[in-house]
Amino acid sequence: MANQELTAAANPVQQNGVGPYNTLEWRPAAGGQPEALLLLDQLLLPHKAVMVACLDYLAVGQAISTMQVRGAPALGVTGAYGMALAAIRSAATRPDELLADLAIAGKHLYETRPTAVNLGWAINRCQKLALRLVQEGRSVEEIRAELLTLAKQIHEDDIRINRQMGAFGAELIPDGGQVLTHCNTGALATAGFGTALGVIRAAHEAGKKIHVWVDETRPYLQGARLTAWELHQLEIPYTLITDSMAGHLMSRGQVQFIVTGADRIASNGDTANKIGTYSLGVLAHAHDIPFYIAAPLSTIDLSIPDGSHIPIEERSVVEVTTIGGTRMAPEGAKAAHPAFDVTPARYIHGIITERGVARPPFNDSIKALFEEE
Ligand code: MRU
Repeated sequence: MANQELTAAANPVQQNGVGPYNTLEWRPAAGGQPEALLLLDQLLLPHKAVMVACLDYLAVGQAISTMQVRGAPALGVTGAYGMALAAIRSAATRPDELLADLAIAGKHLYETRPTAVNLGWAINRCQKLALRLVQEGRSVEEIRAELLTLAKQIHEDDIRINRQMGAFGAELIPDGGQVLTHCNTGALATAGFGTALGVIRAAHEAGKKIHVWVDETRPYLQGARLTAWELHQLEIPYTLITDSMAGHLMSRGQVQFIVTGADRIASNGDTANKIGTYSLGVLAHAHDIPFYIAAPLSTIDLSIPDGSHIPIEERSVVEVTTIGGTRMAPEGAKAAHPAFDVTPARYIHGIITERGVARPPFNDSIKALFEEE
């Protein structure tokens, strides 16, 4: 089923006080319209704020693949609603049939984007819940309802977790400091508030005078298109730079703090994030600038010992040879597009999570955070 476009007027983007816009929201069935997952179409930002309605898990998968929704925590929440939609739209009449349909949907959604572990984390939670309910002898209707409840819970939890990270991280940002960030890690990359951008936002809300350097984040331009848009709405002072300007600013003493998000963190703290993050880590180390990662525990993959095990998404080279649909490279130019890189833990000063800041050696500090559960 294709995604349906909704006008921003019908679904105003000024809403829950977390945004100042909703990245995603659940629309219950009403007035003859079926239930749907509404997503703020990030392909159209910053020019247009339009919500698209996903009516089934295939539409959710398409929205993830085409990056109408993106950012590791947002992908987790979207994946959970995708599983709820798979259950709701399934024609299954028996619990075991429903489980089989959920396995197909889970595999489909899981394969849309490989690097952000939050997607698989959320899908696994849904599948485990469904399996337990089947074993308890619950009905198809009950399983559908419980899956939707879980998706809503993951959604709410993400907003709360982001605020907790914001509180821990804001303390680390020096008052009057210049903060550099990469990609988009704000409300748009999460269910609301943001991870690294949430830390910046929390520092701003706490009254700290900060200025943000926003890496444009070639080739997909999440910084230029999305982070600049968010900071503008939040009225946080910022300056957009191209990625290659970061080293120059650091050499001139114009960066006091760096914070980025993460797509997957290994047990030893090695961190996969948007391509270009690794260069920032090396530069920060060379200039003795604190370099922090902000990410929820759901981004930590305890099943892998280090970053060499993280799958790196390769995206279309058209995103490199063109900008905004205009070709920049000669016809036939060879190009590459690894969409993420891995920053070794030795360059990372701390990982800001909802339970506090993990410090090196990360194997121990990360384990300790999980043991608090
Ligand atoms: O390709 P994207 O836009 O999904 O990549 C997003 C990032 O790399 C973010 O930094 C990461 O997901 C953390 S978002 C809070």
